[in-house]
Amino acid sequence: MTSVLKRTMAKYLHRGYRFALYDCGALTQSLYLAGTALDLDTCVVGGIYDDELSRFLGVNSVEEPAQLAFLVGPRSSGCDPEGNPAS
Ligand SMILES: Cc1cc2nc3c(=O)[nH]c(=O)nc-3n(C[C@H](O)[C@H](O)[C@H](O)COP(=O)(O)O)c2cc1C
Repeated sequence: MTSVLKRTMAKYLHRGYRFALYDCGALTQSLYLAGTALDLDTCVVGGIYDDELSRFLGVNSVEEPAQLAFLVGPRSSGCDPEGNPAS
């Protein structure tokens, strides 16, 4: 997940940076909800290698910084959706 800072800051000036982070939080919540609805396992990760991820995505890390990674995969058999061990 990246933020195109020029877009939000053109409209909201320095407050735009804050709003870009709010957007990441709102999008993260939507991804969690969608993943849960599709019975997938999901996890947000902020501990990313910024430069490597930006290179992988082909974005300029200053103009469009990577903010988060969001992992999606098949639901593991380890836990049920409430986190209880699977029987
Ligand atoms: C914005 C954000 C960033 C996160 N970054 C990391 C991270 O870099 N590494 C990590 O282990 N957990 C990170 N977490 C926590 C995990 O996403 C997850 O919530 C946590 O591992 C607990 O998962 P569980 O309730 O399924 O055990 C982050 C959570 C949030 C909300």
